[in-house]
Amino acid sequence: MQGIGRTTKDMNRKEKGDHLQDLVGPLGTATHIENWGRAVVVSGGVGTAEALPIARAMKAAGNHVISIIGARTKELVIAEQLMAEICDEVIITTDDGSYGTKGLVTTALEPIITGDQPPQMILAVGPLPMMSAVADMTRPLGIKTVVSLNTIMIDGTGMCGGCRATVGGETVFVCVDGPEFDAHQVDFNELRQRGSIYREHERQSLDDFLERCRLETAAEETSKAR
Ligand code: FES
Repeated sequence: MQGIGRTTKDMNRKEKGDHLQDLVGPLGTATHIENWGRAVVVSGGVGTAEALPIARAMKAAGNHVISIIGARTKELVIAEQLMAEICDEVIITTDDGSYGTKGLVTTALEPIITGDQPPQMILAVGPLPMMSAVADMTRPLGIKTVVSLNTIMIDGTGMCGGCRATVGGETVFVCVDGPEFDAHQVDFNELRQRGSIYREHERQSLDDFLERCRLETAAEETSKAR
């Protein structure tokens, strides 16, 4: 797992037999699936793990499914083989060109949506800038586009209010009303600001965790030296 903040770094330290305190789910509402005809599932980073069961359900409903997987670099591409077993086509993009097409997922999406057989449905899941860019590309073409906003959730229980978003002028809570919404109705500017609100708390939490790790390591080394 890619250790980014306190929780993912903590999970990476788990050994066999260790456990997490709590696991809550499933949360929110179920993904709407139907046979649209041609569908594209666009995923970025770890969003590919979330996209996988959705792509599988789309395929089972009879859709022609194209998967576009984007990552910063080759080592961060996940679930390619699993997607290939499900989808009619898998396209990889990497920011640095180390694997697949060099560029962003939108680089791969553009010829598909402007080609002879544009899709009837696009689902995007991943970082906010990526989902916002996909929405901007498909809006003028009127292609139905859904984004999964789970990236902004915090406690996931409807209690903290951290996942509040504006969709079509209405206030929604992503973990209760979503996580999937009409991409063309989402106020991404508001979400961008919200995404940075907790940055200082996250940094402080990570610093505290790293300091605790350092002290634990020092204590272990001291006790071994005795
Ligand atoms: S994540 Fe806390 S209310 Fe939705």
